[in-house]
Amino acid sequence: MSIAAAARVGDPVAAIATPALVVDLDALERNLSRMAEFARMHGMRLRPHAKTHKCAEIARRQVAAGAVGVCVQKASEAIALAEAGVGDIYVSNEVIDEAKLHDLAALAGRVKLSIAVDSALGVDRLAEALKAAGSTADVYVEVDVGHGRCGVAPAAAVALAHQVVSHGLRFAGLQAYHGRAQHLRTPAERESAIRHAVSLARAAQASVTSAGIACPLVTGAGTGTFVLEAASGLYGELQAGSYVFMDRDYADNHATPHAPVFEHALFLKSQVMSAGSSHVVVDAGHKSHAIDSGLPRVHGHDVEFVNGGDEHGILRKRGGAPLPALGDTVWLIPGHCDPTVNLHEHYIVVRGGLEAGRVEAVWPIEARGCIR
Ligand SMILES: Cc1ncc(COP(=O)(O)O)c(C=O)c1O
Repeated sequence: MSIAAAARVGDPVAAIATPALVVDLDALERNLSRMAEFARMHGMRLRPHAKTHKCAEIARRQVAAGAVGVCVQKASEAIALAEAGVGDIYVSNEVIDEAKLHDLAALAGRVKLSIAVDSALGVDRLAEALKAAGSTADVYVEVDVGHGRCGVAPAAAVALAHQVVSHGLRFAGLQAYHGRAQHLRTPAERESAIRHAVSLARAAQASVTSAGIACPLVTGAGTGTFVLEAASGLYGELQAGSYVFMDRDYADNHATPHAPVFEHALFLKSQVMSAGSSHVVVDAGHKSHAIDSGLPRVHGHDVEFVNGGDEHGILRKRGGAPLPALGDTVWLIPGHCDPTVNLHEHYIVVRGGLEAGRVEAVWPIEARGCIR
């Protein structure tokens, strides 16, 4: 068995060594086309967030389905995906470190690059780096629309937009992303958070345009709320990322009426390695799946997953359903897809389902570990 990859192309699902990060390709393809179709129907640009999958092959498939490019959060993610052939990348996050800005400015000479800013220092340093590299980038001013994380107050957006233009850079619009709204459980809670976000983004847009600066685009939205941003009439671009995989935490959201339905496409294949009298133990602990958003769900078994530590997961009976037996395969649906992906080198990509399918491909996760 190779240390690097858990399976080879052509292997039956049963031969995939555990624990392994497995993509159900049929489900992934349905998710990609449902989101692309939604964006098309609403006349919106789709720029999915590649922080979810960190994988050039998935980015290419998103673009082939109609996306204009992808978002990333980190300079190193942008570099890794660009090296793997992704040609249109938006760093939807602030970069203040000069060395990273110089790397990005060099990258901007090879791919179409956009970047978010929320400070005067950030704009000056970005402009300096681009000037030194002889390249250019589209710049979005981020507005804090309720998350309380990055972004300026709506009234402060105009000064940064001015500064961007005065450096001879293209002010591409506003970033208005509300992260905390994504996982509010009920549609009513999400609706109320995004109504507030839209009003703040609208105020920022008005202050920019009334100063005589064109604001070509408002970009934002995630898997939990994109239907609301699309309905606002304000946003022109959707940045949802997790829809490609749908983790357990997103599945716990109460569904938004009329939203496209996304399926679980990311699984952790594990195996029962020990059996006690009232529990069994699988070979996947939190070194193989992130637990920041809670524990995984056990696919197809009505049993409880209990944290067993770094390398173990404990399964306990919940009702009358039997526990899997020693040696059985157990498919886990990770609590949070992004940091789970970051723990793995490869996706084992299965066509034909988790029971009878075969490995169609092994995709590298090029931006795995790119946290800088
Ligand atoms: C700026 C930004 N846009 C879009 C997303 C995508 O959100 P999701 O994966 O919830 O769809 C994120 C996720 O954290 C984000 O930070």
